[in-house]
Amino acid sequence: MFLGSDIGIDLGTASVLVYVKGQGIVLQEPSVVAIEKNTNTILAVGEDARRMLGRTPGNIVAIRPLREGVISDFDVTERMIRYFIEKVVGKHTFRRPRIAVCIPSKVTEVERRAIEDATRSAGARQVYLIEEPIAAAIGAGIDISRACGSMVVDIGGGTTDVAVISLGGNVVSTSLKVAGDNFDDAIVRYMRKKHNVLIGERTAEALKINIGTAYKGTSEVTMDVRGRNLVSGLPMNITVSSVEMYEALHESVDAIVEAVHSVLEQTPPELAADISDRGIVMTGGGSLLYGLDKVIKEKTGINAVLADDAVSCVAIGTGRYIEYETADSSEKGPWFFKWGRNSWSASRRKTDRNSNKKTTSSKERKN
Ligand SMILES: Nc1ncnc2c1ncn2[C@@H]1O[C@H](COP(=O)(O)OP(=O)(O)O)[C@@H](O)[C@H]1O
Ligand SMILES: [Mg+2]
Repeated sequence: MFLGSDIGIDLGTASVLVYVKGQGIVLQEPSVVAIEKNTNTILAVGEDARRMLGRTPGNIVAIRPLREGVISDFDVTERMIRYFIEKVVGKHTFRRPRIAVCIPSKVTEVERRAIEDATRSAGARQVYLIEEPIAAAIGAGIDISRACGSMVVDIGGGTTDVAVISLGGNVVSTSLKVAGDNFDDAIVRYMRKKHNVLIGERTAEALKINIGTAYKGTSEVTMDVRGRNLVSGLPMNITVSSVEMYEALHESVDAIVEAVHSVLEQTPPELAADISDRGIVMTGGGSLLYGLDKVIKEKTGINAVLADDAVSCVAIGTGRYIEYETADSSEKGPWFFKWGRNSWSASRRKTDRNSNKKTTSSKERKN
């Protein structure tokens, strides 16, 4: 039996990662649910459901309930969270876990409440919400407690979050719905337009990961894929080159660079100076697109670096956050604590309905 632990969940649009206090990341699975339409029963969640994407018969649908970075289907999201919690802590727990969930920085109050309610009804004793860029920064090893500006660009499946953080809070941020999925869609569109070939989402993703590039001047590599010829209607093989991938992807890449640029424009000058000294930190699976760091560096003149373990940053940050939140008061100092190479302040938002403990918002602070 599991004696109630504390959990951090990175509820991503593409994948869910679960961090258990004291153990680290114990689960990483796609945020996909397969449902039998007639009976409304869940057939599979996670990796098993992902294999069904695009391959289901009429009565089964494989859906990604968080696709756009918000909860599009509350009921399915709740069942997915429940499934992952049960997978990690078991069905019959002695005490229900306290759970920290990270949320995109631009979610509305209604969506915030929906995520909180879904997590609570999925079995949490207490729910803490943490903004994704803050979690990403903690996970990337940035000391967010200092009065020093850091910029985090988190590129996931459905959304890209760009934020400037100082003193533990978001100073300027934006979120756009151009990220990894959008890269895949752009590749599908390109293949249809240029070659009259229809390829599936997963094939497009494979092209992106293997030969995709955001940078024009990269040496050429090729990959063979299968698709359906739209003229003959028959399956065919086609060789695709990285130069074509650049053509397919550059508009989406430009949108991300533009977002980084506009956040920099709105950043107060002292913090902008810090960022130009310290560089931009990139996290999330989408930031692994070849050459993206180089393009950001070229277009902004500021060094952009991929965080170590970019895909797990948010989960690690959320986990460290719950570890901090649930530590005994003797273990944590009044204003900051040190954990590994990080130290960060106690600026946080707690959304536990049972307690009305107020927290500081970054806007109330002076830089
Ligand atoms: N090596 C890679 N190159 C380019 N894109 C990648 C790579 N690895 C993963 N991705 C993309 O990253 C996205 C998922 O990133 P992730 O951070 O897990 O998203 P989320 O936080 O939204 O769940 C997907 O679109 C996936 O295709
Ligand atoms: Mg993410």
